[in-house]
Amino acid sequence: MTQQASHARTALVVVAHHRPDSLTAHTARRAAARLEAAGYRIDLLDLHAEDFDPRMNTSDQPDWGNREKAYSAEVHAHMQRILDADVIVAVFPVYWQSVPAILKGWIDRVWNYGFAYGRSKPRLAGKRMLWLGLAGASADDPIVEGMQAVLETTLSEGIAYYCGFAQSTVGLLTDAEERPQHIDAEGNILIGEAVAGAEREAQYADFDRRAGEFVEKFAAAETVAA
Ligand SMILES: Cc1cc2nc3c(=O)[nH]c(=O)nc-3n(C[C@H](O)[C@H](O)[C@H](O)COP(=O)(O)O)c2cc1C
Repeated sequence: MTQQASHARTALVVVAHHRPDSLTAHTARRAAARLEAAGYRIDLLDLHAEDFDPRMNTSDQPDWGNREKAYSAEVHAHMQRILDADVIVAVFPVYWQSVPAILKGWIDRVWNYGFAYGRSKPRLAGKRMLWLGLAGASADDPIVEGMQAVLETTLSEGIAYYCGFAQSTVGLLTDAEERPQHIDAEGNILIGEAVAGAEREAQYADFDRRAGEFVEKFAAAETVAA
């Protein structure tokens, strides 16, 4: 049917990594390909490649007395990309149990007062969000449970649901480092042996499988909701 072509949903895939050859960038490309295969039009926003400046400035600082404030042209262009998207998928390395500064700055500057929040009818209402965070910690590290909880609190409760999103999911991808990392009781980082050959291939395949599962599940939920 032509319905899919004329009403193709749009996925804004936001990548927050400085190296195009990073596992994060690889994961973002695979996520975009899966979403495309599921029928989405892809808008790929590589914050570093587009030279996004995460620093707040006077033009983009909210004016609490004026929710109609005209922000900078750069921010308005980013707002339009968000409005055009049905879903947003942010792919990023977990830094200090949070998002990297460039992604945080994109939210600070673009998800602004009068646009993302501060209206009785939120403009972003009904959109869905997937946060794919790559973490160096190993899956069996006790720190992971708290990491998942703090990311859900900050990203889903504090940002997405606050801005009226219909759904927000945090997909935490542990074991993103070549060498397994653990923190001991004294807070030392214990770096394990890097694996090689077939074992390493299996490790990457498992990582891609876990990332793929988050994206597939997210895409399937849209089909149910549509
Ligand atoms: C500044 C910084 C902070 C980090 N904080 C955490 C953290 O809080 N928890 C964690 O599991 N990994 C942490 N890591 C490890 C990264 O999550 C990991 O290196 C990254 O996901 C690997 O993906 P990449 O190769 O695409 O960068 C941190 C790394 C850096 C550089």
